[in-house]
Amino acid sequence: MKKEYLSAPLPFVGQKRMFAKEYIKVLDEVKEAKVFVDLFGGSGLLSHITKRQRPDATVVYNDYDNYRRRLEHIGRTNALLDRLRNILVDVPRLKAVPKPVKERILDMMAKEEAENGFVDYITLSTSLLFSMKYATTLDEMRKHTMYNRIKRTDYDADGYLDDVVVESCDYRELFEKYRNRDDVVFLVDPPYLSTDVSTYSMRWKLSDYLDVLKVLVGRKYVYSTSNKSSIVELCDWLGGNKEIGNPFVGAKRKEFNASMNYNSHYTDVMLYNVV
Ligand SMILES: C[S@@+](CC[C@H](N)C(=O)[O-])C[C@H]1O[C@@H](n2cnc3c(N)ncnc32)[C@H](O)[C@@H]1O
Repeated sequence: MKKEYLSAPLPFVGQKRMFAKEYIKVLDEVKEAKVFVDLFGGSGLLSHITKRQRPDATVVYNDYDNYRRRLEHIGRTNALLDRLRNILVDVPRLKAVPKPVKERILDMMAKEEAENGFVDYITLSTSLLFSMKYATTLDEMRKHTMYNRIKRTDYDADGYLDDVVVESCDYRELFEKYRNRDDVVFLVDPPYLSTDVSTYSMRWKLSDYLDVLKVLVGRKYVYSTSNKSSIVELCDWLGGNKEIGNPFVGAKRKEFNASMNYNSHYTDVMLYNVV
């Protein structure tokens, strides 16, 4: 029996681990589907679970963030954790790491990056930074206060992506490849509006978040969102007010740039249609 992971083997913000068991039940409702395309694969958790539950199906994992690179380096990450356990031996658990010890840790990371070209800062963050704080580079790591939250056991991802087809591209490109098949279920777990996306490789505007909705129309899908993003509320509203269209068509626009302080700026917009 192959191991089934119900959470991603390496830390990943936004992974669907809370939904793993519910998702397995949803899969029972789409037994006729032959292909599952995980457009926003993230850690690959949904792809992994799908393949374990439906070994007969083709499962396509879109690894947009290159999570595989982190998986490939798992051995080196475990070795770094081992060295960290030694460096932190005199720092009480959950206490702040004193400056000289922090310097040793940063030196170790810098050396590792120079020698091997990669350090999994996100994974190391969960052993060194305050809960839910993540660094993706050495410079970011340097800016944070470090704590001794060292993981006591090694990471393991054996067999995690076995038999899954891996792609790495924009979700629209992958959608185009499969859009005309009627035996496909699209797994659509995009970044959520108004939530932290700092560990993802992306910069999205509101229209990007809304564009994702286009892939759902007329297709089988499993879509995820958060109540913080209000997208479902917006769609409910649009569904109830179909006749409204865009009320600003033909309106003129004025903008006013304001500064709250040196790093906080905003633009007030006035739209008017008075003729
Ligand atoms: C909410 S996460 C998906 C989490 C995933 N379901 C899991 O369980 O780990 C959204 C992912 O979409 C990725 N993403 C951002 N822009 C993308 C794009 N244009 N095409 C595909 N994926 C994108 C993000 O980098 C992030 O990995």
